[in-house]
Amino acid sequence: MNVSEAIRTRRSLGKVKPDAVAQELLEQIIEAGTWAPNHKLTEPWKFFVMQGEGRDVLGNALGDIQAAGAGDTSEDAVVAARESGRTKAYRSPVVIGVAVEPSTDPKVIELEEYGAVFAAIQNMLLQIHELGLGAVWRTGEPCFHNLMNEAFGLNPQDKMLGFLYIGYPDMEPKQGKRQPAASKTVWLNRAADL
Ligand SMILES: Cc1cc2nc3c(=O)[nH]c(=O)nc-3n(C[C@H](O)[C@H](O)[C@H](O)COP(=O)(O)O)c2cc1C
Repeated sequence: MNVSEAIRTRRSLGKVKPDAVAQELLEQIIEAGTWAPNHKLTEPWKFFVMQGEGRDVLGNALGDIQAAGAGDTSEDAVVAARESGRTKAYRSPVVIGVAVEPSTDPKVIELEEYGAVFAAIQNMLLQIHELGLGAVWRTGEPCFHNLMNEAFGLNPQDKMLGFLYIGYPDMEPKQGKRQPAASKTVWLNRAADL
């Protein structure tokens, strides 16, 4: 599969088989992430690979955040929320959390650090696709919650930018849908064109 084809045929796949994914493939996916462009070579990414019961780290965090949001911190509510979180974290055999740890160098622009990690995630999604695996990049408010940072030992200035739920596809990809590029493009060939 060439890059052009990978870009156009990659689709988010929310339903994957429970079968394990080989360690070498996971390492290849992560390494693809590290080849993303990054300004001043800060390499601001951090990857958390969760498999088996390791997914409880995410499940418990999702549960705790849900319980905290509901304002009900009774033991029963927390147990129920954690179970709900666990169910979410167990939707795929592998979940990779991708976080940004922005450089503390004052010359580095924080927004660019986020950009580099988003680019890393896209690299990973394309690599996943090329390997015949499927994935969906999930976020949502809990992803950015401070309890999520605590669960993964991230500092307050760091941020989890998404969880890639990975496995062997167990669904047909939906039809890809995009507006024509022309509708998003301004060609400034002459000063009078705008
Ligand atoms: C920053 C970001 C966050 C996303 N979060 C979610 C999510 O929480 N749940 C989900 O089902 N898909 C999520 N997606 C995937 C998009 O829904 C998906 O890319 C979009 O529907 C286009 O489909 P495609 O990826 O198959 O082209 C996210 C994508 C991005 C870029």
